[in-house]
Amino acid sequence: MSVAILDFGSQYTRLIARRIRELEAYSVVLPGTASVERIRDESPSALILSGSPRSVTGDDAPRPDPEIYDLGLPILGICYGMQLLVDRYGGEITEAGSRSYGGDELVRCEGALLEGVDVPAGVWMSHGTAISRLPGGWRSTAATRSNRIAAIASPDGRMQGVQFHPEVVHTPDGARILDAFLRLAQVPRDWTPEQNLDRIVEVVKDRVGGERVLVGVSGGVDSSALALLLAKADVDHVAVFVDHGLLRWNERAEVEQALRPLGVNLHTVDAAARFLKGLRGVEDPEEKRRVIGHLFIDVFREQAERVGPMRFLAQGTLYPDVIESAGGEGAANIKSHHNVGGLPAELGFELVEPFRMLFKDEVRDVAALLGLPDEVRLRHPFPGPGLAVRILGEVTPQRLEIVRAADRIFIDVLRERAAYHKAWQALAVLTPMRSVGVAGDDREYGYVVALRAVTSVDAMTADWARLSPGVLDETAKRITREIPEVGRVVYDITSKPPATIEWE
Ligand code: XMP
Repeated sequence: MSVAILDFGSQYTRLIARRIRELEAYSVVLPGTASVERIRDESPSALILSGSPRSVTGDDAPRPDPEIYDLGLPILGICYGMQLLVDRYGGEITEAGSRSYGGDELVRCEGALLEGVDVPAGVWMSHGTAISRLPGGWRSTAATRSNRIAAIASPDGRMQGVQFHPEVVHTPDGARILDAFLRLAQVPRDWTPEQNLDRIVEVVKDRVGGERVLVGVSGGVDSSALALLLAKADVDHVAVFVDHGLLRWNERAEVEQALRPLGVNLHTVDAAARFLKGLRGVEDPEEKRRVIGHLFIDVFREQAERVGPMRFLAQGTLYPDVIESAGGEGAANIKSHHNVGGLPAELGFELVEPFRMLFKDEVRDVAALLGLPDEVRLRHPFPGPGLAVRILGEVTPQRLEIVRAADRIFIDVLRERAAYHKAWQALAVLTPMRSVGVAGDDREYGYVVALRAVTSVDAMTADWARLSPGVLDETAKRITREIPEVGRVVYDITSKPPATIEWE
C-alpha cells in the first residue's frame, strides 16, 4: 500500500516522495507516463500527479495513462498535476502570459484538504498557466492574492488539486495539507524506521537464505549501515574495507571501531601504496577517478577471491539511484555517483540491495536503530575517490598530508564551535597555487588552501554555508600555524550551480 507519485518532470517530485514518507506513508515515484498496469503493481492507495516544467496546453505535454482516472483512487494534482485534472474533466486552461514563481498568499480556503490552514497563509507557486473555467461540478476551494483558483475539488471530493507546491518549505502549511490528503485517502501509516528495519531484515534473509554475502565498506553511512544490517540480521557475510590511502584523518580507525564491536566481519585491506603508485603523474580529475575506480575493483576482486566463493554482493543503492535508472520524465538532470567504487555487475555476483527503496535520511534512521555510532552515521558525505579530488594536480604523499591536516582542522573547529551540522558538507581543497606571505622578516611562498562548506538537501544544488567569522578565523589561523606549507586560506562563496561542491 503506497502513494504512487507520477512524475512529470518537476524539480520537486522527489521532495513530494520524501514529505509523504515523513508522514509515515510509503511513497513511490513512477514516470508520469507509466502504464496503468505498472501503477497497479505498486498497489497504491492514492495517486499524486506532480508538477512539470511543461504546460498542459503545449503539444509536448506529457500525460498519464488515461485509465488511471478509472482506478477509483483518490488523486492529488500538484500544479501541472492540477492542470491535468482540469484538462481531463473538461475545464479550460489558459497561458498566464508570464511564468509566476515565488511566494504568494492564500486569502481564502475551504474544504477538507485545507482544513486548519489559517489565511493569510504563505504558499509557493511556480506555474505559467491559469484555470479559466472549472470542469462541471468542480469547486474552487482556495484563492491567492493573484489567483482566483488556487485549489480545486471534484464533485465527490475524490480528486483534489493545488496550484501551489505543498512539498516545499516555503509553503509552511504544506505538511498539514499533505497529511490531510493522506487522511482523506485513508493511506496506511506504516512507514516508520522500526518497521522499515523489520521489513528490510526479512527481505534480506529471504533473498540470501543461508548463503554468504560480500559487502564493500567505504566508511560512508550507507555502506557501514549495510554491513551492520547484515551482521544484525545474522547473515553470513564478509565486509571488505579498501583503505585507498585517500581517506580523511582517522577515518579508517573510526570505521573499524564502529563496526567490529557490533559484529561486522570486517576485513581491511591496506592498499594505500598501490593507489598512490597508480595516481603518480595523474593530474586530470576524470583520469584520477578512472584510475581509482579500476584499482578499487582490482583490489576488491582479489579480496573476494581470497575469502572464497560467494554468491551475493550487497550494495548500498539508494532510492534516488533507482528513480534515476527508471528514467522517464524528470530523470534527465539527476546526477548520481556510484556506490562503493561502482562495483560492476560483471564481478559475477547476484546483487542484494536492501536500501533500494530508502532515501538517505531514512538510511540514517535505520542506521541509528542498528546502533551505528553518530560519528559515522552523521558524518558529512565524502566522495569515493576521497582526498584525491581535493588536491588540484598530482596526488603526492606530501600533498595528501597537507590536505588531510587542513580538513581535520576545519572539521575540528566546526565541531568545537557546534557548527558541523550547519553545513551539509565541509571540506578543504589544496590548490596548486602558491602565494606570497611574510614570515618574520622573510617573504615566503606557501600553498593556498580553499575551504568549502555548503548547505544542501541532496547535493543536486547547494549554497555556500554562512559560517561565522569566528569559525573561519580560527580555522585559517590554525591551518597557517600548524601546516607550515600553507601560506593563505580562502573561503569559497560559490553556489552550485554554477560551481560543483568538490573542486574537481
Ligand atoms: P559535486 O562536486 O558533483 O558533488 O557537486 C556532489 C556530491 O557528490 C560527491 N562526489 C562524489 N562522490 N564519487 C563519489 O562517490 C565521485 O567521484 C564524486 N564526486 C563528487 C561530493 O563530495 C558531493 O557530496
